[in-house]
Amino acid sequence: MGKIMLEVKDLKTKYITRFNEDIYAVDGVTLQLEEGKSLGIAGESGCGKSTLALSLMGYYFPPLHYSSGEIIIDGQTISHLDPDVVRKRILGREVAYIPQAAMNALNPTQKIIRFIEDVVHAHFPKKTRQEIYTMAKDRFEELGLPAKVLNQHAVELSGGMKQRTVIAISTILSPKVLIADEPSSALDVTSQKKVIKMLKSLMDKGYIRSMIFITHELPLLYNVTDDIMVMYAGKIVERGSAKEMVFDPMHPYSHGLMGSIIVPETGVREQELTAIPGTPPNLKNPPKGCRFAPRCPFVKPECVVGDVEMRTFDEHRSYRCVLGVDELREAYKNE
Ligand SMILES: Nc1ncnc2c1ncn2[C@@H]1O[C@H](COP(=O)(O)OP(=O)(O)O)[C@@H](O)[C@H]1O
Ligand SMILES: [Mg+2]
Repeated sequence: MGKIMLEVKDLKTKYITRFNEDIYAVDGVTLQLEEGKSLGIAGESGCGKSTLALSLMGYYFPPLHYSSGEIIIDGQTISHLDPDVVRKRILGREVAYIPQAAMNALNPTQKIIRFIEDVVHAHFPKKTRQEIYTMAKDRFEELGLPAKVLNQHAVELSGGMKQRTVIAISTILSPKVLIADEPSSALDVTSQKKVIKMLKSLMDKGYIRSMIFITHELPLLYNVTDDIMVMYAGKIVERGSAKEMVFDPMHPYSHGLMGSIIVPETGVREQELTAIPGTPPNLKNPPKGCRFAPRCPFVKPECVVGDVEMRTFDEHRSYRCVLGVDELREAYKNE
């Protein structure tokens, strides 16, 4: 096993609403991410993916609050640090975060190089503009982005170029962990491919040392990340290698997200996505027992009794369901 870049132990974070209600959108997440590896996180809208992304940075501001658990980046526990320390020492340098719809958040009237100066100066106040320009130009060229972009404004760039630029800006300090929240979701297919190629190239060149890629489309992650986790209603319900998760998903929710007919070479489905009937539960008041039980075609009385634990098989795969591997495979065969 390689060096662990990111370790999360039973993390719980919550929104506190105006009415003083607690909403646990991250409810006991445990994960490990090794150096040089990428992890995909998939799940429908409202399952807590973006909240997990925010929470992993250890940077909390209302209405989101840390509740319990640990986040360790390359041996350093960041979950108990003062937000000010996190902002000054961790963000951008140890962990970089690309929020959902990041490209739309760029101030359109500012030159791209100014954003880079801001990121670099936050950690290295003594670096000169010339040093930063040289560093940015080298990095942009390494990543296949034209250096002239540095002197352009966000408004002059196409959507795809803007998104790749945001990624290059966010990773300029070569963070240990990159968390990208739906980085390609708003783009056309060609731009999507370019974004994914660039993220892979950041990994291959060692500019980032591990990556979390969040998406609502599980099949998209095939060929993009090493491992995949599926998240449902604030909890991880399954983890395995990308190949296993795409071709042999075990949890009924992962199975539903994947659909049933897949082209073997590409992992892409042959049919239109068959949406899972129903919607994720309201996290103000999640269902007892398995949170997927109300939507699960294979539900049994024992599913709604108590919490369902993760179970492990084939040494490294795990899923959260009362049914065994053989029972599930048999059920999927007969669908
Ligand atoms: N600002 C907020 N205030 C209160 N609850 C929120 C807020 N943002 C998100 N939530 C709750 O957290 C849940 C998960 O949201 P989110 O993390 O954005 O999911 P995803 O990224 O998977 O679509 C939502 O269903 C909602 O209940
Ligand atoms: Mg989201």
